[in-house]
Amino acid sequence: MRRKILVTGGAGYIGSHTCVELLAADYDVVVIDNFSNSKPAVLDRIAAIAGRAISWHEGDLRDRALLQRLFSQHHFAGVLHCAGVKSIPEAQQFPLKYYQHNLEASLTLLDVMSQHGVHKLVFSSSATVYGEAARLPYREESPLAPNTVYGRSKMMVEELLHDLVQADDSWHIGILRYFNPVGAHPSGLIGEDPNGQVNNLMPHLCRVAIGRQDALSVFGHDYPTPDGTGVRDYLHVVDVAEGHVKALQHISAENGLITLNLGMGRGYSVLEMVRAFEQVCGNHIPVRFVARRQGDLASYYADASRAADILGWRAKRGLLEMCADAWRWQSNNPDGYL
Ligand code: WQD
Repeated sequence: MRRKILVTGGAGYIGSHTCVELLAADYDVVVIDNFSNSKPAVLDRIAAIAGRAISWHEGDLRDRALLQRLFSQHHFAGVLHCAGVKSIPEAQQFPLKYYQHNLEASLTLLDVMSQHGVHKLVFSSSATVYGEAARLPYREESPLAPNTVYGRSKMMVEELLHDLVQADDSWHIGILRYFNPVGAHPSGLIGEDPNGQVNNLMPHLCRVAIGRQDALSVFGHDYPTPDGTGVRDYLHVVDVAEGHVKALQHISAENGLITLNLGMGRGYSVLEMVRAFEQVCGNHIPVRFVARRQGDLASYYADASRAADILGWRAKRGLLEMCADAWRWQSNNPDGYL
């Protein structure tokens, strides 16, 4: 009998790659997704990669009745909570939306989990909870001082999870702080396909390379970094997905709460990413240098040693593999999921 896991946001970029790795680890998967930043077509692609189907339900985590039905219908061994909204600039404009989708939705999910005796949770958090104050590389015990609404919405859920574990030791919780997931499953069947406004660097690089965008706007060329452009800790999305499975396996054996960085432990600049992508796609990527983007920090990257020590997890796919897999996805799906 396979253990069954609920993946919230399972049709999304991180969620879909995590579903593939869960299925490969012989779990059964049920997805709930409101398709606000994803499409149902992803679910067929996941099944094609895994060679077996997954159950899925369209809906919003704030719909308590829907969650009650889901938890009555399925006996979940645990939940991977990947659903959320994640655009830093949009969060600055619409804070209420971000607190509703990231905080309120998590509260409803946790309440229904508790009512049904499901106490194992892996939560998708973000390196943006650290903010400018933390020394580099970011360590899990670094002080949290997010400088964006998005980062604060994630930090509030983390604090809520700490309070929950303090009050009830039957909870087993893993908080995963992602740095910058990029790339795609090597099959080229699933990848990053944001609906509407594109914010992240890698989708923009892919769109320039495929001709959907004429040039890459580089946000700032005067940062205190080796080449003046922003530095981030990029890691392959399949490494992130594997980290989720290892975290789930770890918390299934240990109650309490553990917080882990998921990163490579080193940074690359925007221009280094451009050069790596050009090497992989064989096309020139025109760039234009523009003003810094509000909320951006110059440079941050992870100390990921705790995940290695506790989970035996390391990000093992290098920069060229990240770019090659992202490019294969984009080449195979020039207009994303249809
Ligand atoms: C990376 C670098 C930009 C686009 C991410 C995600 C966010 C959240 C937090 C998960 C920066 C530069 C980008 C472009 C550019 N993820 N850039 N031109 O800002 O680190 O935030 O982590 O929780 O969803 O956005 O990632 O990919 O947006 O930017 O120059 O067109 O690329 O300035 O230095 P970021 P990003």
